[in-house]
Amino acid sequence: MSYNIAIVGATGNVGQEMLNILAEREFPAKEVFAIASSRSIGREVSYGDKTIKCHDLERFDFSQCQFALMSAGGTISKEWAPKIGATGCVVIDNSSAWRYDMDVPLIVPEVNPDDIDGFTKKNIIANPNCSTAQLVVALKPLHDAATVKRVVVSTYQSVSGAGKDAMDELFRQTKGIYVNQQPEVEKFTKQIAFNVIPHIDVFMEDGTTKEEWKMVVETKKMIDPKIKLTATAVRVPVFVGHAEAINIEFENPITADEARAILRESPGVLVVDKHEDGGYVTPVECVGDFATFVSRIREDSTVDNGLNIWVVSDNLRKGAALNTVQIAETMINRGLVKPAD
Ligand SMILES: NC(=O)c1ccc[n+]([C@@H]2O[C@H](COP(=O)([O-])OP(=O)(O)OC[C@H]3O[C@@H](n4cnc5c(N)ncnc54)[C@H](OP(=O)(O)O)[C@@H]3O)[C@@H](O)[C@H]2O)c1
Repeated sequence: MSYNIAIVGATGNVGQEMLNILAEREFPAKEVFAIASSRSIGREVSYGDKTIKCHDLERFDFSQCQFALMSAGGTISKEWAPKIGATGCVVIDNSSAWRYDMDVPLIVPEVNPDDIDGFTKKNIIANPNCSTAQLVVALKPLHDAATVKRVVVSTYQSVSGAGKDAMDELFRQTKGIYVNQQPEVEKFTKQIAFNVIPHIDVFMEDGTTKEEWKMVVETKKMIDPKIKLTATAVRVPVFVGHAEAINIEFENPITADEARAILRESPGVLVVDKHEDGGYVTPVECVGDFATFVSRIREDSTVDNGLNIWVVSDNLRKGAALNTVQIAETMINRGLVKPAD
């Protein structure tokens, strides 16, 4: 049994990671099609030990595919996901265009796999925001054990979360500063090299940013609408890998040792938590990995039933491409999609 699969946004950060992961996990692909804009027609991208040529989104026939994994931005997804879904091809979308639609399941397979069944309404499934994906992988097993009441999260998000142009900007600015060049600011609102910026996505009316709002709404949709969450999302001069300092207040008692034992058994989680120099994971160490790493698990004595944890993951993988591929794998395992042959 194998499946034809289209990667929409194949020349981008997330698209390229999707191609790597399909090959690494030996996804049962009959044929893989790379799709991008007309600018990239004929451009070659790597898929395992092969290269494949890009097709133009506007001219591609999606009815030959069982899955379209999309990562070409919200505007493209808004327009194209329904059209692709209507051909019978299931869209798994990485943008924020469909996440908050009640007829579109928002899925992290370790957290709410049963919600996938709702995909038939639009033939679209949404992937959460990168900072939410790693948060909920760590939060869900703790919620099941002691019921999460309130979460305070501060993020340290890498520039790859803003696309390939943002990575180039950090690289150019960093190089330029060593030769006394004035940093040119284009993708970010302030200098990102040797700096941190407490602003990701647009501002909302109440002063939060959309990135912070997404973490609230997506956590409620996937785990429990009763969870109260407040976030500060910060961009840091790291190329790949998001980190989060998370303070959690629970309904019921839970010790750090109990939380550590629960997380050690939880799907998608790797606990690295030695109370010694270097006994924790940092973003550069998680690059290219599938896991969500949890470190610095400790009790917060300022509240009843409180814990602090440090969570790190590759934002292009669990935060985007890996989660998308896992959703497709879950659908196949549950027999929800007919193979090409
Ligand atoms: N990076 C992350 O951590 C992350 C995490 C979760 C979700 N996402 C979401 O994933 C999406 C892509 O992110 P990214 O970081 O991969 O961005 P990126 O590196 O800037 O890549 C954008 C991709 O979209 C394609 N594209 C742009 N305009 C197009 C058009 N008119 N028609 C067809 N294809 C078009 C580009 O193709 P060309 O090369 O031909 O222009 C490229 O392949 C965004 O919606 C982002 O919010 C990203």
